[in-house]
Amino acid sequence: MTPPSAAPARDRLRIAIQKSGRLAEPARALLSSCGLSWRESRDRLFCYGETLPVDLLLVRDDDIPGLIADGVCDLGIVGRNVLLEQDGERRGIGRAPAFREWRALGFGGCRLALAVPDGWEWRSVSQLAGKRIATSYPALLSQWLATQCIDAKVVVLSGSVEIAPRLGQADAICDLVSSGATLAANQLKPVQTLIESEAVLAGPEQAFDDVRGELADLLLRRLDGALRIRHSKLLLFQAPRSVLPDLLPLLPDAETPTVMQVDGQDSLALQALCHGALTWQRLEELKRAGARGLMVLPVEGMLA
Ligand code: PRP
Ligand code: ZN
Repeated sequence: MTPPSAAPARDRLRIAIQKSGRLAEPARALLSSCGLSWRESRDRLFCYGETLPVDLLLVRDDDIPGLIADGVCDLGIVGRNVLLEQDGERRGIGRAPAFREWRALGFGGCRLALAVPDGWEWRSVSQLAGKRIATSYPALLSQWLATQCIDAKVVVLSGSVEIAPRLGQADAICDLVSSGATLAANQLKPVQTLIESEAVLAGPEQAFDDVRGELADLLLRRLDGALRIRHSKLLLFQAPRSVLPDLLPLLPDAETPTVMQVDGQDSLALQALCHGALTWQRLEELKRAGARGLMVLPVEGMLA
């Protein structure tokens, strides 16, 4: 293996994201919310970073782990399912781990699940013994079958896995399920979850030992801020001092509120950063407990 110091030092960070597909837009939006912007090149495969030296490479999601392993890209946004599958494939042929999950990003949620034809009377995973299971995730499926001590045949397909049972290529499938609509449309039902997946920030096993390390740290700090505020709101209200003991238990998801005295009154003005949903129902409860002038404000940015 080539030691990292032998690679030419780079002074820009290169992030691979999906060119088109489910993760493409949210990945870009998340990076934009971290203050990144790009000049688009005409071929739209490479976007040159303007506000920071952080460039984007638009690729097929399945290529992202390999691009990180080869050092072509420094970071990537990809489904955990893709990352784990390719890590499993590398391990399977005795290669060292070359990438790992740096952060879970909270979008693109789905699960890798086993599904069987609707007509199967499903009792337990042992029913899969001796069956043929079609999948695009052979490493993850094989690992799981091994942990369950089930001997089944893994049929590797690169796409249209759902149709395999009807074509007689397989008895069951192992594929990504999000809404479940694809399974239902193919008269299949999910029976077992192997992995919960979502979009993740992937990076190399080792930290960068040049200026990219500082850029990556900066990006991670901004990402953490962006992820924290995703569901956060600032709640402003006033309340008589005497009702505070009733109000505060209604805000279990809030940071310690800032409390200010309102001039010439026994009333307090409070501001609290809440991390959970501030539904109408919660606001009504707060009002019943004595809060007045409730106001919910969006949070644009946060730096811990
Ligand atoms: C996945 C999976 C199914 C579909 C399931 O494909 O292979 O076809 O999503 O989604 P549903 O439960 O909401 O119907 P994906 O969109 O990731 O495309 P790909 O398999 O071509 O990468
Ligand atoms: Zn894909």
